[in-house]
Amino acid sequence: MKTQYGHFDDSNREYVITNPKTPFPWINYLGNEDFFGLISNTAGGYNFYKDAKFRRITRYRYNSVPMDNGGRYFYIKDEETIWNPGWKPCKTPLDSYECRHGLNYTRITGVKNNVRASVLHFVPLGVKAELQRLTLTNLSQEAKRLKVFSYTEWCLWNGATDGENFQRNLSTGEVEIEQTDRFTAIYHKTEYKERRNHYAYYTVNAPVQGYDTDREAFVGLYNELSEPQAVLEGRATDSLAHGWSPIASHYLEIELAAGETRDLIFILGYEENPNEEKFAAKAGEITSLGEKDHHIINKVRAHEVINRFATVEAVDAAFAELTALWDELLSKYRVESSDERLNRMVNIWNQYQCMITFCMSRSASFFESGIGRGMGFRDSNQDLVGFVHQIPSRARQRILDIAATQFPDGGCYHQYQPLTKRGNNDIGGGFNDDPLWLIFGTTAYIRETCDFSILDELVPWDNQPGSEVSLMEHLRISFDHVVNNLGPHGLPLIGRADWNDCLNLNCFSMDPNESFQTTGNQTEGSKAESLMIAGLFVYCGRQYVDLCNACNMSAEAARAEQHIQNMNQAVEKYGWDGEWYLRAFDFYGHKIGSKENEEGKIFIESQGWCAMARIGAEQGLPEKALDSAAKWLDSPHGMVLNYPAYTTYHIELGEQSTYPAGYKENGGIFCHNNPWVIIAQTEAGRGNDAWDLYRKIAPAWIEDQDLHKVEPYVYCQMVAGKEAAKPGEGKNSWLTGTAAWNWLTVSQHILGIRPTYEGLLVDPCIPADLKEFKVTRKWRDAEYVITVKNPNGKQHADTPTCLPYAPGKHNSVIIL
Ligand code: GLC
Ligand code: GLC
Repeated sequence: MKTQYGHFDDSNREYVITNPKTPFPWINYLGNEDFFGLISNTAGGYNFYKDAKFRRITRYRYNSVPMDNGGRYFYIKDEETIWNPGWKPCKTPLDSYECRHGLNYTRITGVKNNVRASVLHFVPLGVKAELQRLTLTNLSQEAKRLKVFSYTEWCLWNGATDGENFQRNLSTGEVEIEQTDRFTAIYHKTEYKERRNHYAYYTVNAPVQGYDTDREAFVGLYNELSEPQAVLEGRATDSLAHGWSPIASHYLEIELAAGETRDLIFILGYEENPNEEKFAAKAGEITSLGEKDHHIINKVRAHEVINRFATVEAVDAAFAELTALWDELLSKYRVESSDERLNRMVNIWNQYQCMITFCMSRSASFFESGIGRGMGFRDSNQDLVGFVHQIPSRARQRILDIAATQFPDGGCYHQYQPLTKRGNNDIGGGFNDDPLWLIFGTTAYIRETCDFSILDELVPWDNQPGSEVSLMEHLRISFDHVVNNLGPHGLPLIGRADWNDCLNLNCFSMDPNESFQTTGNQTEGSKAESLMIAGLFVYCGRQYVDLCNACNMSAEAARAEQHIQNMNQAVEKYGWDGEWYLRAFDFYGHKIGSKENEEGKIFIESQGWCAMARIGAEQGLPEKALDSAAKWLDSPHGMVLNYPAYTTYHIELGEQSTYPAGYKENGGIFCHNNPWVIIAQTEAGRGNDAWDLYRKIAPAWIEDQDLHKVEPYVYCQMVAGKEAAKPGEGKNSWLTGTAAWNWLTVSQHILGIRPTYEGLLVDPCIPADLKEFKVTRKWRDAEYVITVKNPNGKQHADTPTCLPYAPGKHNSVIIL
């Protein structure tokens, strides 16, 4: 489908943007290990190393006007015309424009007055740098003399204080220049002489005609990025930043004969030195560069990268490696069907988004500022379920890192910072769903890999050396955290909140300066219980029981099974409202999500989880709950979180009731929890219903891009619900558990290819008119090619098939 903004190019695994004026910046992510970049379709965005808060490399202004200001820009001055390949910041109309967002790379190409400038941005595997290959082509019949300026602005490392502490920041900035006949490098070394042992650099593989490192000198005090003074004047000022705002800009004069093409390689990199090797020369020594400053950076590590990527061939080779990695990652699960959009979601974009959410958690996007949130405990456990088949060893490490932020009673820090891996004290803990997600993540890892040895790994509590116990013990304590925190109905106490961060039943906040996430939590005497945690407990509890059985721990399995039975009974007895599951009981023990309530009569989370857990299946409760969800929550854009939305602030409900009706957790369509309903539908054998809901939220099916607004190739967290001013408008794209949940839904429950301890279960639940599909699944060291045929228009098989695990290649045909 071509729209006025662009189209999918599946054979290249790209989304092609053909109009720079997208309804919102449509971004992509560079890097999938430690060095990352966010890049918009006009080359806006920024870079960081590991941690968007503590190691921000380039500066970015959120909430800027106009949006998306700042990035890595190239200015081209061709006679009197000044333009950028990505249209911004000059916004000179281009003769042609194209941005191809691919898997961890972006290629932006502009043509103006017979000059084509194409920039390929990517982070080579194992390298702490973004490469920018600028290819300039003279498409005219005459020689051209171009003036080319690069531009990026340094961030003073800590993304939070960079935007706050101006009395200090405006005096600390320091840079170095290094000019050789092979390259020109600008180094950013603020605070390097004392407490930091890391620096950043921006180079080009050519001598330059000038450079700038001071923002004011380059831009001009009264100019903007759309008309920098240096570019207007067609010369650099060779400025050296001392404080104020350090930048990096190279200035090159380039002559191109008719038809000639020239490549320039820019590297925006980051390196760390051991403390004893920080400096090139000892105090008082004069360096080979003749500098008097004895704080010259030891640049050996940057030079290695600069030398390695001196040629186009080296850049091409690194790019080929990245492509090969994605070939490999995407070969683990591949579907072939007659539905192009299903193939596109499964084979490319959903899996790609899972990698990004695994790497970023909720830290850095155009909706997450990169300073507020590190890695979430529940978020990361869910993300890894979408990623574990790609690189299991990384999922393994993540599980151990997460578990180490648990407390001895099974509770945990809600978030930790990726750089330090320590729990985040500012947010604290007390979210009573958190521990269960560790069972969810760990069991998914073992079903994928059969690596039971992870259970024997010794993992500390709260990162305290000496406190280590086995991961299996962490799982037991996680399970028991619920058992040890039951309320008056025998249902789980909610604590600070469950998955729905905004249902704050113990908060009672009247001060608008308080954060609902962190403010005092009055759990003393509280009767607030969560039906969502109840469903989650039964579901994850069964995963724990299966794991115990697989480990020959039958006594522990029986003990856990008893608690699960008790929970089932408590939900049937107190948690059923007649036509659907209640959502919660509040502090005083009043019902939430009941027909008795005026607003918020029914909620999606408890329908999804209790139906997935099949609580009350003998009496048909899951099916009734699904019918009620379809009746009250569904809309053309997906199911809303609750209905009717709250219209006034309820102090006993907290943040949920602060959102305007139809937005976020108050009646918004949370794409994250629609899959819970879809999975429950597949468990009830309702393939048509599951498919309908799946397509409503999957980006490949979105038709009205102006309404949807955000990227058409990835899921967003929230789409405005039916009671909103603009139903169908998307927000918070990219970093959302939606990616992992939809992956799980489509791969394991709709297409139904599901790893178990014993074998690969084939249990599709599909729309009756899907006649055939084929899945190639690389699992452990085996490869299964499974063809599912549906000649009689069924929605599922009468009994699932289990393909036992065995190494090698297997072919099977399953007829529904
Ligand atoms: C956000 C959070 C997630 C939470 C959800 C619902 O997506 O990342 O942790 O569960 O909102 O509040
Ligand atoms: C807000 C958001 C929610 C998010 C939470 C944590 O409450 O509405 O989605 O999970 O903040 O930052």
